[in-house]
Amino acid sequence: MQKNNLLSILVLFILLTFSCSDKNNKILTNSSAKIEQKVDSVLTLMTLKEKVGQMVQYNGSWDVTGPPSNVSDEEKFEKLKNGGVGSMLNVLSVKATREAQRLVMENSRLKIPLIFGYDVIHGYKTIFPIPLGESASWDLEIIKKSATIAASEASAAGVHWTFSPMIDISRDARWGRIMEGSGEDPYLTSKIGVAKVQGYQGEDLSINNTIAACAKHFAGYGFAEAGRDYNAVNIGEYELQNTILPPFKAAAEAGVATFMNSFNEIDGIPATGDKILQRNILKEGWNWDGFMVSDWGSIGEMIAHGYAKDKAHAAEIAANAGSDMDMESYAYEAHLEQLVEEGKVDISLINDAVKRILRVKFKLGLFDDPYKYCNEEREKTEIFTEENQTFAREVAKKSIVLLKNKGNLLPLSKDLKSIAIIGPLADDKDTPIGNWRAKGGTNSAVSLLEGIKNSVSSSTKIAYQKGVSILKEEYPKGRGFLMPLNFNTDDKSGIPAAVNAAKTAEMVVLAIGEVALQTGEGRSQTNIKLVGVQQELLEAIYKVNKNVVVVLMNGRPMDISWAAENVPSILECWHLGSQSGNAIADVLFGDYNPSGKLPVSFPHNVGQEPLYYNQKNTGRPFSPTHVTFSAYRDAPKTALYPFGYGLSYTTFEYKNLILDKNEILPNGEIKASVVITNTGNRDGEEVVQLYIRDLVGSLTRPIRELKGFEKVMVKAGETKTVNFTVNVETLQFYTINKKWEVEPGDFELWIGGDSTTSLKASFKVIE
Ligand code: NOJ
Repeated sequence: MQKNNLLSILVLFILLTFSCSDKNNKILTNSSAKIEQKVDSVLTLMTLKEKVGQMVQYNGSWDVTGPPSNVSDEEKFEKLKNGGVGSMLNVLSVKATREAQRLVMENSRLKIPLIFGYDVIHGYKTIFPIPLGESASWDLEIIKKSATIAASEASAAGVHWTFSPMIDISRDARWGRIMEGSGEDPYLTSKIGVAKVQGYQGEDLSINNTIAACAKHFAGYGFAEAGRDYNAVNIGEYELQNTILPPFKAAAEAGVATFMNSFNEIDGIPATGDKILQRNILKEGWNWDGFMVSDWGSIGEMIAHGYAKDKAHAAEIAANAGSDMDMESYAYEAHLEQLVEEGKVDISLINDAVKRILRVKFKLGLFDDPYKYCNEEREKTEIFTEENQTFAREVAKKSIVLLKNKGNLLPLSKDLKSIAIIGPLADDKDTPIGNWRAKGGTNSAVSLLEGIKNSVSSSTKIAYQKGVSILKEEYPKGRGFLMPLNFNTDDKSGIPAAVNAAKTAEMVVLAIGEVALQTGEGRSQTNIKLVGVQQELLEAIYKVNKNVVVVLMNGRPMDISWAAENVPSILECWHLGSQSGNAIADVLFGDYNPSGKLPVSFPHNVGQEPLYYNQKNTGRPFSPTHVTFSAYRDAPKTALYPFGYGLSYTTFEYKNLILDKNEILPNGEIKASVVITNTGNRDGEEVVQLYIRDLVGSLTRPIRELKGFEKVMVKAGETKTVNFTVNVETLQFYTINKKWEVEPGDFELWIGGDSTTSLKASFKVIE
């Protein structure tokens, strides 16, 4: 007891010595040298048991985001008292985090504060569009700011750490988790990942409203075979380096505090036990000093993978491979000490893991004040504020993509005589909150119906009919994360009333798509058409009224080929978050001119998946005269709506693509410019996109690769010049030499409004 007290005093002394003298000097407070000294001083005091304790993360039962364990909260809290736990996830609210932290601070020998993590994926309580939707804004400023707001709300409720951004390249619409990332392209995903890391972490992690970010899932998770969640990934080293890893490298360079590994194996090795990925590439190669948390139970799951024979073996593999913290496998706490004693895991690796964890805790300022994020006043006043709602509306409207607008049916007049608002999602206040909704409340979104009512003039007659339900029964109140869904496949009894409403209306707005929990973890589907009886509703409505605007709410690219062929207007509205209905109304009635562009290709049908624009050419790309080339016999090879695509209420013309030179050395630079004119009569924003192709390489290269973009506002009638720089960053790839290099040869370059643009120039890289 006396010895314990002495030690606690010593830790306190070390911390105070460093932090007091730094108090008036912010640079010193945050200096990494000082932090390293503090980390080392604490590490010296720790027993092996305490070190292992830091590497353990438990779930708190305020939320359950994985298969529940049979360890009770009581048992977990007992372990907190002994310093047997370094972190908890899903402990929510100031009250709960304060209480858990208190157990550690008042009982454990060294009083090392807990770090609390949570899946704050697209907002904490103010919910922004799901990440795939927000990515459609291509607007890095608003993406960064939405992360800043999410961090501020989460930190006001005791959360220190978000498991975001998810930067898995995902090209398969069947994979439910496609909604959580930024789509199919490494360049766009890298830029968005960095913006989010900057938004969450700010300039200084020790400030009370910034939180640690987590780049996940390392690596390859989005390439699950046939889109089946958790499935095997079979890609080679070059594809891994050129396609999967760039967003992770960018996040590491941006100083992301933590990484999470992934459930999948790559070519026979589960990522959680992959030393090359975690140690050689990330920690040594990229010189990254944060810590790696396992995914939920992924250490233990190496047994089911057939890679570890039991939990002890799994712990040995994971610790040696560089998984620093065990989320919910209970493998480290049970076996790591013994593994060290037996010489199966070297103590230097344990020390390295613990130092990484302590480093993040120091950076967050938790040693200075373990309760610094436990501020009841902030919790009451800084969450779900008016200001945050206003910004959520801004982000939501910028994330909407106009897919089709035949005859300029949109925007609608606010003085329409009558409008029929139909569909299972029209008056749905829950679906727009999406999956991974953190504290976003059940039924807390502004519905489309409410948004339209807020917008139209008092003389407009509104008729609402649900028509059909997507689910057989509504979700039970509360959280349905682990719940299977039961679709309505037979009840069409509401269709006649919906048809009646449509018959007499001047205009129909039809809200269809996917409910919130149709995408997200474990939500893979082989059917990406409208589920249930929605297609019947759509066709019945269109039969009686051709003025149909389809408002699609969904978390994955869908097969909407019938709608694309028939109805005049389609708005892609994802799951847009708290302000969904208002944002959609802003676009429907022209208060905002849509500017979103698809971050992922929409297929003609599911058989085309995985579908992405940056494919390889193959040896037989095309033949007009015979069948033996790379294509389908029953569907096009290309997308229904391609990557980068999105219309506006105005039109843009691109011309004068000019390169300032046509030859450069590998380390040279070209200025590329294009002239864009707004040829319509509304102001509008356009995402100007630059693509390149390296024609011959030591490895085959994609037919196009996005390498730059800029979102510009162009007033009606105005002409602007947009400039890009082409340099080493643009041209290099991971070559046959296993290095990032620019290879001499011919290149093509395109600039335009989507990935199919034909405005082209050529240049050469010479030796
Ligand atoms: C499993 C998911 O794969 C991961 O993304 C998430 O952060 C954890 N569960 C914690 O909820």
